[in-house]
Amino acid sequence: MRVAVIGQGYVGLTISMGAVRADHHVVGIDLSEKLVRDLSSGKSHIEGISDSDISGALGSGRYRPSADYGSLGESELIVIAVPTPLDGGGKPDLEILESAAKAVGKSLKNRVLIVNESTSHPGTLRNLIRPLIEAASPLDHMYAISPERVDPGNEKFGTRNTPRIVGGLTDEARDRAIEFYRSFCDEVVSASLAEVAEAAKLLENTFRFINIGLVNEFTQIMNEMGIPADEVIAAARTKPYGFMPFHPNVGIGGHCIPVDPIYLQAKAKELGLESRYIALSEEINDEMPSYVVDRLISLYGDLKGKKVQVFGVSYKADVADTRETPASAVLNILKSKGADVSWHDPLVKSWNGEECSPVDKGADLGLVLVAHKKLDLSGFTAPVFTINPNPKFLNWRPLLSVR
Ligand SMILES: NC(=O)c1ccc[n+]([C@@H]2O[C@H](COP(=O)([O-])OP(=O)(O)OC[C@H]3O[C@@H](n4cnc5c(N)ncnc54)[C@H](O)[C@@H]3O)[C@@H](O)[C@H]2O)c1
Repeated sequence: MRVAVIGQGYVGLTISMGAVRADHHVVGIDLSEKLVRDLSSGKSHIEGISDSDISGALGSGRYRPSADYGSLGESELIVIAVPTPLDGGGKPDLEILESAAKAVGKSLKNRVLIVNESTSHPGTLRNLIRPLIEAASPLDHMYAISPERVDPGNEKFGTRNTPRIVGGLTDEARDRAIEFYRSFCDEVVSASLAEVAEAAKLLENTFRFINIGLVNEFTQIMNEMGIPADEVIAAARTKPYGFMPFHPNVGIGGHCIPVDPIYLQAKAKELGLESRYIALSEEINDEMPSYVVDRLISLYGDLKGKKVQVFGVSYKADVADTRETPASAVLNILKSKGADVSWHDPLVKSWNGEECSPVDKGADLGLVLVAHKKLDLSGFTAPVFTINPNPKFLNWRPLLSVR
């Protein structure tokens, strides 16, 4: 098929490569001209897609990055994969999705299938995307939804072996979308309504959000009781059914887990409903940076004037993505305690207007927020406090599980 993928970020580029591998012809459209230049020269910007994947796709003649919506041209299927963030006030912000839908509508020449992969609340395809495209294009297009489940950095589950949910505004749209995804995914699950697929995505990420809140609270209780939380979690996970392990952390980051539950919460609010689990988990997770710094002070002592180096500022291990990272809150709190703070991350060159510092062997202590495989602390002899205990660090001390 001739496919256009709008947005060449984590989701759009992943889907573009999957489609190219399945012999589809893909135009990858992105407003960032720099990104389009990098992709055109065979450079990947995300984990899980290598430079050689991009060069191979370019070399096959079936992948063309472009910053021009005019390149939608003769496409038969359009996948939309653009950011759906929160605004400055912490509310869902669909402006980018709206502008992408309008631009798609203006550029369409034939009747096409439009599939949304961007995460949003149920009803977005029917009540926002379709009307915007219909207002710009008189043709009777087909509309489907397939929420993306990509887990950047996950070496076990990728596009092929992660089942996909597909729903459509008509049976024809859904069945055509199923046919497309079956060409590069082992399992495609059909949903009776587009809204079922949209809501399933929000349920999946809200489930994680709430369980992380639960384990963060549970860990604080264990710490007070002098019981090693990590061992409790490992013991509980030996139950073969009805339990799934989650691990305490410094807070939630990334483009999905902290954001998607808020889309559900906002919708519930519109309906006059409460979403108490979401509100409570948000509160617990937001408090974790303070809790982590308090633990650090209780284990190490006063931080005033101490040189503290923070390791791993992205939102999770082995990815460079710093969106919504709780590291910013940790750095601010450390500074407010009088610490002299620097940060080092082998995957993040610059962040928050600062360049990554080299590992500071003269620091008084290290704080590992995210333990990337590439993090090399050899020669760093000061005490290292870590969220996730890791024997590869010299002098490491667990912060969130008593010993
Ligand atoms: N990152 C993940 O792990 C993940 C997983 C599942 C679902 N999602 C969802 O997928 C969607 C996309 O997320 P992402 O992580 O790929 O975002 P991203 O920021 O990595 O990529 C989005 C890309 O879209 C481009 N863009 C912005 N506005 C555009 C426009 N009007 N037209 C064309 N391109 C435009 C940006 O330049 C950027 O390159 C979001 O709704 C997100 O919630 C993300």
